[in-house]
Formats: sequence, structure tokens, C-alpha cells
Amino acid sequence: MKPFDINNYGNLSELAYPPTDEPLRQIYFISRLQGILAKKREKLGRNIRFSVVTFGCQMNAHDSEKLEGILLEAGFEPSDEENADVIIYNTCTVRENANQKLYGHLGQLKARKKSNPEMLIGLCGCMMQQEDILDYIKEKFRFVDIVFGTFNVFMLAELLCRRYEENKQVIEVLREGTRSYENDLPENRKYSFKSGVNIMYGCNNFCTYCIVPYVRGRERSRTPEDILDDIKRLVKDGVTEIMLLGQNVNSYGKKYMDESSIVAENPDYDFPTLLTDVCKIDGIRRVRFMTSHPKDLSDKLIEVIRDNPKVCRHMHLPVQAGSTRVLQAMNRHYTRERYLEIIDKLRKEVPDISITTDIMVGFPGETEEDFLETVDLVEKVGYDQVFTFIYSIRSGTPAADMEQVPEDIVKDRFDRLLKVVSENARERVGRFKGTVNEVLVEDIDSHDDTMVTGRMNNNTIVHFKGCAEMIGSYVNVKLTEEKGFYYIGELAGE
Ligand code: 5AD
Ligand code: SF4
Repeated sequence: MKPFDINNYGNLSELAYPPTDEPLRQIYFISRLQGILAKKREKLGRNIRFSVVTFGCQMNAHDSEKLEGILLEAGFEPSDEENADVIIYNTCTVRENANQKLYGHLGQLKARKKSNPEMLIGLCGCMMQQEDILDYIKEKFRFVDIVFGTFNVFMLAELLCRRYEENKQVIEVLREGTRSYENDLPENRKYSFKSGVNIMYGCNNFCTYCIVPYVRGRERSRTPEDILDDIKRLVKDGVTEIMLLGQNVNSYGKKYMDESSIVAENPDYDFPTLLTDVCKIDGIRRVRFMTSHPKDLSDKLIEVIRDNPKVCRHMHLPVQAGSTRVLQAMNRHYTRERYLEIIDKLRKEVPDISITTDIMVGFPGETEEDFLETVDLVEKVGYDQVFTFIYSIRSGTPAADMEQVPEDIVKDRFDRLLKVVSENARERVGRFKGTVNEVLVEDIDSHDDTMVTGRMNNNTIVHFKGCAEMIGSYVNVKLTEEKGFYYIGELAGE
């Protein structure tokens, strides 16, 4: 049973003071919010609508499911961004354009807020963990109502209550070291049949370009018992596909922490062991994981993938650059040769595996020779998909103080890389044309409602004729047409 199940408690809002113990305290605030919303509904003759808008990675998407879980529990009604009274932006700050996107959205909201007195704007996520950005928001966007960070997602109900009752801006960004209670929260899962599960939080790697360790804190692994219990509960709820989430899942385990202390130790229980145990759970058909750091990818993990058909044939293995010199400046702790060795081993043990990666161009000091080594690596590996990024200065990271590559050179390299990447990926993905594959149906196709969209085990997307009843089921599909990153297919029966 989840501690946050509000139905296990009476009406806590009648208590004279909020309880001091979390998560009871948050249940109290959810009850209080229920009361506030009931009054509003009566007065306005309608529901109060919310929308959580997510920027960035899978971690943020998963946090948003928790924010939505709290809002639903409190009695808000889900809606799209355009019609919402309460809009929460869960922000990303990994690159500068993510910041700019948020400012763009906020700029448009000021007028809307004037015309809708019920409108509240909340900001949370990675951007809010940076002091300079908080100061900027306080100065430029005074109409923002609540602000919180990555360590206090669990406090949403409390902050909203305070905003409604005190009628002033509420800013509460906790710092590292505070217990987060994320896993005790209700969730509103986007899909009923698949779910992300956090196995760890934070990152210890301090790649020299990256802001994540500063905004998500040090690495903390959840205990295997907690993770496996969560997954068993999800299976009971109808989930068959699990995505294990962490900034660097390969360094999972050994010491299990909450935000401030070690709660258990087991030096032998590592990520491959966890993966094996997850596969043993009846009802689970597919297990994915994200993200892997090449420096920690062990032979043991490759063997577990090979020996466990439930582990999806997909590895996202960010390389970032193809030159050992640049990798060293990035503090990545592997060489070009070592990376290629891992790829060889993976392909040898799991021949049908699909490999995807992240690559950055224009890291400080990158020369034309370095760049050509990246291009060469892309051609050698033969990725199924490459996510390409232009290096973006993040203040406070070591690379921000290094000598930058001129913008026009970076842009030219980026365009050249994109060209190689798309030619390369088309060739790779095309290799499945004509074959029959098991597909988990996920959605109605957004462009054509007589079609559905699903994913193969190796994460390749397939569109084919189908209907809403098929969502959540596994079907065999023949891949008839190859479209670059995805396929068009047709149902192939048993
Ligand atoms: N500039 C550009 N891309 C970045 N990434 C991380 N930090 C930066 C940055 N400062 C990319 C990396 C990472 C992905 C999630 O985002 O490639 O793998
Ligand atoms: Fe950032 Fe490197 Fe950690 Fe990934 S491993 S989150 S790139 S510091």
C-alpha cells in the first residue's frame, strides 16, 4: 500500500495544525485543497482545470505524472494548456534553448492571467534549482504564483494551499539533502500498460558541459525492495512494459540512499542483478532502461541482456564525441577505442540490438580533426538513431570557462553531421523491412485515426491500420514500408 493513499486517512483538513511528518502533512494539504476547490466550484459553477506542461527528459516526464496525480487527488480537472486555470511548467535547463522556450510561454500568459482571475502559474523542475534564474524570474515574471524545484515535487498541494489562502507568490525551492518523498506520491500514468520507474536520482559524473549534477544532486539509488514492490504494484494495475529510469543506470546500487544518508548496503547487488530480478516478475513482458553511461557498462550487463528475452533489444548509449581528446576534456572517462569495443561486444552477444546515441558538436576546443573523428565514429557504429545537439554554455560548469568554438563553424559542423546521421540511420532501420515483429500498440496515430502507433521491442516505431481497442496489446505486424525513423506495417495475425 502506498503511504500517500488519501483514502486511508479521515478528513485531515479538520486538524488545527498541519502534521509535521511527511507524507501525512501533504495528505493534510490535499484535503485542504479539496475543500478550497469545492467552494470554488460552487461559486463558479464549473471545475477548476489544470495542465502540466513538461519540458526535457524522461525524469521530468515521470515527475509530471506525480504532479498530475496530486492535482487529480485534490479535485482539479485535467485540460489542455489553452483552457487551463492552473498551469504548471516542469522545466528543463540542459541547454539554453530550453530556458528560452519557457520564457516564451510565460510571456504569452500575462494577458491571459488578467482575463481569468482563477488563473495560477506554477514553475518547477531543473531550471528552478539555479539561483540566477530564480532571481530573473522573480524580477521579470512577478505574475508567477508558485515556484518549487526538483527536490520538492511532493509539496505541490501545500504550496497551492498557501497560494490560495495567503494570496501572495509562494517560492519554495529546497536544496540537496532534503528527503523528497517522490515515491510516496500518487501518479497519473500517461499509459495504463507501460510505466517508468525511478531506480536512482541524481548524477555524480560531472561531465564538464553538463548542468544536471548541479540541479538534480548526487547519485541516490533506491533499494531493490522498493523498486520491485513498485513494479509488482504496477503489474497488478495492468502494466506490462517497464522503463527503469536513472541518469546513469549502470552505476545503480551497492549503497542505497535517501537524500541524506545510506539506508542499506549490498555491494553485490548491481544494475544487472536488478534487471534480472525485474524480468522474473510475472506479468512483465518488456523491460527498458535509460540512460547508460559507457564508462560503467559491464560485460555482466551485456550477458543479462543476451540471456533475458524480456530485456528490450535497444541500448541508448550516449557517446557525445568521437575524439578521445574531446572525451577527456568532457570528463567522460572512456576513449573512442573503448567505446567501439563496447559496441562490438554488444553486437556480438546481442546481434539484433538497436543502438542509439547522443552527440554534441562544438564542445570548447573541438577542432576539424576532432569533428571528423565524430563523423567517422557515426559511420563505424551504424546507429539506429542519433540525437544531435549543439553545445550550449551552461554557467557554473567547467566548460563554460573554456575557449569556445565560433558559432558559424559549429553550425556548419552540425549540418554536416546531420546529413551523415540521417543517411546512416535510414540504412540501418531499413534492415527490418519485410519482417514480422511483435508491436506493443500505444496510441491512435495522431495524423490518421484509422491507424495506430506502436513500438517494436527495439524501440522502432510502427504505424498500421487499427483501432482504439488494440491499445495496450501486443500484436504481430509485417513491416511493409520504411520511412527513415519509422515503418508503415500491416497486421500479420498469429
Ligand atoms: N549543451 C548541449 N547538449 C548538452 N547535453 C547535455 N548538456 C549539454 C550542453 N551543455 C546533451 C548530452 C546529453 C543530452 C541529454 O543532452 O548529449 O546526453
Ligand atoms: Fe550530465 Fe554526464 Fe551526468 Fe549525463 S552522465 S547527466 S551528461 S553529468
